[in-house]
Amino acid sequence: MRTALTELLGIRHPLVGFSRSPGVVAEVSRAGGLGVLAATAWGPDELDAQLTWIEQRCGGAPYGVDLLVPATSVEGMPDDLVASLRAQVPAEHLAFVADLLAAHGLSADRYRAGLGAADGTVGALAPTGVDGLLDVIVDHGVALVANALGPAPARLVERGHAAGAVVAGLVGSARHAVKQLDAGVDLLVAQGTEAGGHTGTIATTVLTPEVVAVAAGAPVLAAGGIASGAQMAAALVLGADGAWCGSVWLGSEEDISAASLKRKLLAAGSGDTVRSRARTGKHARQLRSAWHDAWEGSGAPEPLGMPLQLLLAKDAFALVDEAAADGDPGATALQSFFVGQVVGSLRELRPTAAIVEEMVAGCGFALRRAAALAGTDAAP
Ligand SMILES: Cc1cc2nc3c(=O)[nH]c(=O)nc-3n(C[C@H](O)[C@H](O)[C@H](O)COP(=O)(O)O)c2cc1C
Repeated sequence: MRTALTELLGIRHPLVGFSRSPGVVAEVSRAGGLGVLAATAWGPDELDAQLTWIEQRCGGAPYGVDLLVPATSVEGMPDDLVASLRAQVPAEHLAFVADLLAAHGLSADRYRAGLGAADGTVGALAPTGVDGLLDVIVDHGVALVANALGPAPARLVERGHAAGAVVAGLVGSARHAVKQLDAGVDLLVAQGTEAGGHTGTIATTVLTPEVVAVAAGAPVLAAGGIASGAQMAAALVLGADGAWCGSVWLGSEEDISAASLKRKLLAAGSGDTVRSRARTGKHARQLRSAWHDAWEGSGAPEPLGMPLQLLLAKDAFALVDEAAADGDPGATALQSFFVGQVVGSLRELRPTAAIVEEMVAGCGFALRRAAALAGTDAAP
């Protein structure tokens, strides 16, 4: 299959696999798509090691990296970032989380003691964190660099281009798409509200043609709600040059999520996600759990902004995940992660390569069916 995406990146399938799991990234690229690694959780040395590992597995196939750099937060951050953020967390919010954990049988004291420990995610929002990650990305010659939050900062675009990478931007509206193009990105990812992670309110079927209309010839990928070949074909029919998928890989054997979380994901239905500010401070789609029910309950404080809510939630979920691994029922009720509405289609763990193969074959089948319905198999 040939689209503007496959031509631009020299790949066989118009399918991008976004994941925090290096094994998924390597397998998607090996299978002919483009694996994209979420690089927010690591410092530069760790990222360097992960990219080296991916390259060894990929056999020279291109891959990408995704950063989380809010344009407004990268300048002027103090050196002691985490301590300064910690001081801004209101006592009311701290007490709310401590009580919520205690109500589920977890240690409020351990939570209070751990809050604000060194955190790669928060650290990446500091200037030194971002520059260090960019150095590694440039050194490794990655094929694509993406930025999730808002217009890509100028130096990410400049350094990505200088290194010969395609710079991509995720957008939730046509207005955001125009801003990303103005910031210099080469490729737009139209991410609909169905998607896991930070997401807007517009559905993928509505958003994709709107973004294509303002893209001025730049390739557009559709994201959100794509986990099957038919959904991938629908993205292409809507005018996209490919599909960008995140949730489907949570159902892969190479995904690094804890077994306790995977069990919850495999059991969930498509209505079991929630778009909530309760984990990061920005609206993100995630598996609904007792955590979200509590934050939506009467008397709950308003979630804080990013990154304060992220800081508040991070240590809580570290305790939750640790206890859920031992089968603790209270922790299991709270456990959650970012996932989109396609969670309902995840039923068993499969090898990443098999997921790619099945999606590509299913996409071809759906496109041939569409052509047959139109009474022709000739390209328009
Ligand atoms: C577990 C998970 C974590 C995510 N984290 C990020 C992130 O750090 N940066 C980003 O650009 N997108 C992130 N996303 C969004 C994906 O890049 C992608 O747009 C989305 O998953 C597509 O929709 P889908 O979940 O329906 O496949 C995340 C998605 C998931 C499922």
